[in-house]
Amino acid sequence: MVNKQNNLRLGVNIDHVATVRNARGGAYPDPLRAALLAEKAGADGITAHLREDRRHITDADIEALMDGLTVPLNFEMAATDEMQRIALRHKPHAVCIVPEKREERTTEGGLEVAREENKLAHFINPLREAGCRVSMFIAAEMKQVDAAHRIGADIVELHVGPYCDEYTDGHFDVSDRELERLREMAKHAASLGLEVHAGHGITYDTVKPIAAFPEVMELNIGHFLIGEAIFDGLENAIVKMRRLMDEARA
Ligand code: PXP
Repeated sequence: MVNKQNNLRLGVNIDHVATVRNARGGAYPDPLRAALLAEKAGADGITAHLREDRRHITDADIEALMDGLTVPLNFEMAATDEMQRIALRHKPHAVCIVPEKREERTTEGGLEVAREENKLAHFINPLREAGCRVSMFIAAEMKQVDAAHRIGADIVELHVGPYCDEYTDGHFDVSDRELERLREMAKHAASLGLEVHAGHGITYDTVKPIAAFPEVMELNIGHFLIGEAIFDGLENAIVKMRRLMDEARA
């Protein structure tokens, strides 16, 4: 999953292709087709979240992605026994552990690694032993980063939603503070030897400051790209996002 131009990878999250499909039932649009198009447009990886309620991605989608992708799959999942069994069956390249609440519209906060340290340490062991790279989706807080390090996670994915939302709402003083927190935590995590990813809520307008952090190795972007595909096509949207990332990195 190494990008040739620089060391910042783009993971495209295709959950909301499945959301549109499931609005009608049936088979269209097909998340695998979107994933293959994303690969062609320059995605370095594909991310898919199998939620407990299967509201978008289904078990069959994960099966199809595992069979059909040539780039790595980043399998997002809650820390449940059911999801652990599924991950161990498929052994995706990476597993990203996220918090999940049934009533939420999307993943709202970061994972409470600090509070659930023992449980999560036991939970991720078999996944790491199976060869999956294990990522923790966390808020940009020192205690979460430190706990992720202690339990032996390979990666932390920093939740950039608060920064993106405040920026989009025009609260630039708050978004600047969020960005500063992210910058500090990216540095701190990298200094502990954790690989740093970032995701949630990223748009053309918010991508550059995050992409410019030298410690960040991967951005995972979904909802905005799938929405933008309505107007500009998925390939064009991904190519444009990739260009913004590369410009910020340069
Ligand atoms: N990273 C994680 C861990 C997520 O849970 C999500 C949303 O499923 C994303 C990235 C992508 O966020 P968005 O769809 O807002 O770009």
